[in-house]
Amino acid sequence: MEMAFYFYSACCFLIIFSKASIATDTISPAESLADTMTLVSNDGTFALGFFSPGTSKNRYLGIWYNNIPMQTVVWVANRINPINDSTGLLKIESSGRIVLQVQNTTAVWSTNTTASARNPVLQLLDNGNLVVRDGTDSNPENYLWQSFDYPTDTILPGMKVGVDLRTGINRRFSAWKNGGDPSPGDLTYGVELEGSPEMVLWKGLQKYSRSGLWIGTGFSGAPNSGSSRIFDYEFVWNENEVYYIYFLKNQSVLSRVVLNQTDSARERYTWNPETQTWLQSIVIPTDYCDRYERCGPNGKCDSNNLPLYCQCLTGFVPKWPQRWSSSDYSGGCIHSKPLDCQKGDGFIRIRNVKTPDTTNSWVSTTMNLKECRNECLRNCSCMAYTNFDVTRGGSGCVMWFGDLIDIKHLQSDGQDLYIRVSASETELKKNSKVKLAIILTTVIATFFGFLLVVCYIRRSRRKIKDEVEDKNLSDKENEDMELAVFEFGTIAQATDNFSFCHKLGEGGFGPVYKGTLPNGQEIAVKRLSKSSGQGPTEFKNEVRLIAKLQHRNLVRLLGCCIQGDERMLVYEYMPNRSLDSFIFDQTKRAALTWSKRFQIICGIARGLLYLHQDSRLRIIHRDLKTSNVLLDSEMNPKISDFGLARAFGRDQTEANTNRVVGTYGYMAPEYAIDGQFSVKSDVFSFGILLLEIISGRKNRGFYLADQGSNLIEHAWRLWKEDKPLVLAGDFLVETGDLPELLRCIHISLLCVQQHPEERPSMSSVVVMLVSCNELPSPKQPGFVLYNKPFEADSSSGNDGPSSKNEISLSLLEAR
Ligand SMILES: *[C@@H]1O[C@H](CO)[C@@H](O)[C@H](O)[C@H]1NC(C)=O
Ligand SMILES: *[C@@H]1O[C@H](CO)[C@@H](O)[C@H](O)[C@H]1NC(C)=O
Ligand SMILES: *[C@@H]1O[C@H](CO)[C@@H](O)[C@H](O)[C@H]1NC(C)=O
Ligand SMILES: *[C@@H]1O[C@H](CO)[C@@H](O)[C@H](O)[C@H]1NC(C)=O
Ligand SMILES: *[C@@H]1O[C@H](CO)[C@@H](O)[C@H](O)[C@H]1NC(C)=O
Ligand SMILES: *[C@@H]1O[C@H](CO)[C@@H](O)[C@H](O)[C@H]1NC(C)=O
Repeated sequence: MEMAFYFYSACCFLIIFSKASIATDTISPAESLADTMTLVSNDGTFALGFFSPGTSKNRYLGIWYNNIPMQTVVWVANRINPINDSTGLLKIESSGRIVLQVQNTTAVWSTNTTASARNPVLQLLDNGNLVVRDGTDSNPENYLWQSFDYPTDTILPGMKVGVDLRTGINRRFSAWKNGGDPSPGDLTYGVELEGSPEMVLWKGLQKYSRSGLWIGTGFSGAPNSGSSRIFDYEFVWNENEVYYIYFLKNQSVLSRVVLNQTDSARERYTWNPETQTWLQSIVIPTDYCDRYERCGPNGKCDSNNLPLYCQCLTGFVPKWPQRWSSSDYSGGCIHSKPLDCQKGDGFIRIRNVKTPDTTNSWVSTTMNLKECRNECLRNCSCMAYTNFDVTRGGSGCVMWFGDLIDIKHLQSDGQDLYIRVSASETELKKNSKVKLAIILTTVIATFFGFLLVVCYIRRSRRKIKDEVEDKNLSDKENEDMELAVFEFGTIAQATDNFSFCHKLGEGGFGPVYKGTLPNGQEIAVKRLSKSSGQGPTEFKNEVRLIAKLQHRNLVRLLGCCIQGDERMLVYEYMPNRSLDSFIFDQTKRAALTWSKRFQIICGIARGLLYLHQDSRLRIIHRDLKTSNVLLDSEMNPKISDFGLARAFGRDQTEANTNRVVGTYGYMAPEYAIDGQFSVKSDVFSFGILLLEIISGRKNRGFYLADQGSNLIEHAWRLWKEDKPLVLAGDFLVETGDLPELLRCIHISLLCVQQHPEERPSMSSVVVMLVSCNELPSPKQPGFVLYNKPFEADSSSGNDGPSSKNEISLSLLEAR
């Protein structure tokens, strides 16, 4: 039995070897491909053969990149019928049907070719397409069958994603279940044909993210995506076909788009020949609002408008105001004034949006905007309209019926959408327009006024242009995003050999130096203490992940530097240093008025919310404190040192750690004592930070002459005694907004409550900060008392195990 098997494999081996030397990229009916063999495309880019994914022992027939060391499979034939031994054999029958046989008999996979060929051959093309064609056909592009029509999870350049309306072939992509199982997961990507077509990412049967209408230069959800330095994108829509396709401008670049079940995302990877790795660039969904229907019917989602992502469209109000104000947006919005189609309605234009879900839409390519409006006005169930082809001066007409679903607000370049509202709503608008017109006329009547207007228009035009260009730039940057890896020499030179004069301070993970790059850019260099034991690749990968966390309230990581076992992180430089240098400084603190402080508080809250909830990594900061909040030139707060616990030392990424990282005085009791951390321990630190910003005193090192109380204790006592504002001090009380101040004290006490589950999440905190709803009463705060007296330095203490610091937890009942 065993002998027979060996004999059999040896035979196949020989057969194929002799064939491989005749023709490397084709198989004819007389030939076959066995488990050990591969078929290689003419230029050597792709290979077809049998493989086992991940740790699985199953065998699959697939296509992968032939010239790179990392096995990257782009297509799988028998994805739901794996072969459990090495007897797989690929053949092409004389009819042109491809058959994948096991044990010489059973077919685990085959194609359904209806057309018959006289002289069929199977060929692997240089673009990764496996085709069956008639060897005698004079047109080599007449395919009887092609793998591009039966895609799996990877979109290669030149592959169509969409529907051939003539043959009914729908090329819809689906992710692998996981790295070891290529069978289809529930994340799929393709064209939605209903209404006017657009690209959709589905999770099961639910839409997960939409592209918006194609507007000629890109999709309305990503208006500038039409082409870039590396790619050209197209969306073809005619009576025969509807599909999305992209091409590479440089044929020697390897790039692919893949659906990732684990990440629930559509990701683009481009091969970097220098580092021999795939670099991830565009990821869809791109942000919070890119996920389908965040804000319910007739709501509008704006990722730049934290915490209030969701707003009702103009002319609409929340259906359930109570739930809406507590961030439950599911009910969406309804018209604030009922429509009256008979008496006549009007339209309001909203700018820069990703167009709503087109399922309930109607489309015409020939109508213009004016005809579109008239048509929409006539039909009482038409709720909105727009044009879409910006390349042809804005032709085309789409009308929406019923609720408007999944509208996203963009920073620039989005589509204009015209929404139906009651006539009285447009009257309001008109009146204010008339008033504006009168004012303008008066201004223009005077010569200076006229000049002013001209100047203003010029300036704002230039500004708009700048913004657009900026955006393009950042899009491109994003696309080829690679982490800058600095030479050690460059960094040493920039920081004058890490000279003492350039030292900015000593942070949680090591000293920080100020530096100036040869191009004049100012940087902050964090030299990590040498204890991680992480290899350079591992470290770089981790840092790359952190570099992807981008938010205006986070310090931007520019790159890293690796030399021997030195690890350094390079950040943008923040001219105003850290928050503690202001609030604890007798003279500088006067610069921080209450409104400035409130802005800072809201900014920190947003940054932390992003880390906790909205970034793709879900980072728990674990060392949030005033010295880790940096201020830019306009005093906007930026959180620093985030993600370091993750990048630096894997032993600390478990949810229960025996190595406590953080700063005593900011640590939640459950973390300081049991080493248990969660987002709620960050909330605790945020509460302390809030108390410090309000009181101008350090929690640690706070001492009242008569009793060894700390700041939380002090604040809690004042709260119980019903004189919370004493905490803030005269300067803020006299100049600040008292309700806002009170609210912040209230929130800080909610954040430092003893039990983690009672503390609000950052998303609730962000809402509490700006809404006027009643807040719950704070319960007993958690105190950490230190037997060891306070050290003056507030910014170290990250490295000792908790036993050394002898902490004891004490509960205090306020009198
Ligand atoms: C492999 O699969 C075949 C059916 O496809 C089955 O008969 C055979 O027992 C399996 N062998 C092993 C080792 O699982
Ligand atoms: C496989 O099948 C072919 C014909 O169907 C036969 O000639 C050949 O001997 C078989 N080989 C093995 C190893 O069973
Ligand atoms: C062949 O046709 C069947 C039924 O129409 C279909 O389920 C199967 O996916 C097709 N196979 C290929 C490889 O196209
Ligand atoms: C194309 O890409 C290759 C590899 O990345 C590069 O070496 C070559 O310079 C590029 N060619 C052009 C014209 O950009
Ligand atoms: C999906 O993403 C994970 C990381 O989140 C990565 O390890 C995996 O390789 C990705 N899968 C594909 C098919 O790219
Ligand atoms: C409005 O348009 C819809 C969709 O085209 C159509 O079904 C309906 O009959 C129209 N109603 C009127 C009154 O024209």
